[in-house]
Amino acid sequence: MDTIKVSDLEPGTSLSIELEGGHGVALFNVEGEIFALDNTCPHAGGPLGDGTLDGEVVECPWHGWKFNVRTGHRVKNPAEEWRVPSYPVRVENGFIQVSIPSE
Ligand code: FES
Repeated sequence: MDTIKVSDLEPGTSLSIELEGGHGVALFNVEGEIFALDNTCPHAGGPLGDGTLDGEVVECPWHGWKFNVRTGHRVKNPAEEWRVPSYPVRVENGFIQVSIPSE
């Protein structure tokens, strides 16, 4: 579990963060609703939190693959093999909390 301020993530923007232990997480603010995905693009490892957010779709900054930040599914091919893990998010007292399942 890690925390970051909602004020660090304006609506329509995304952010790459690294949790203790080095786990990369991409955070997205879709009209005030916060979503979290693993930060590693399943194509070649691009940082999804550094991508461009359009509605609830993020475009990877490296080669342009697009993912729905709500589900983690690739827009063009929603097969499970290309799905990015998504994590539960909770906002409490202005802080974003992300739950990462233990491996
Ligand atoms: S690494 Fe994301 S599209 Fe290639």
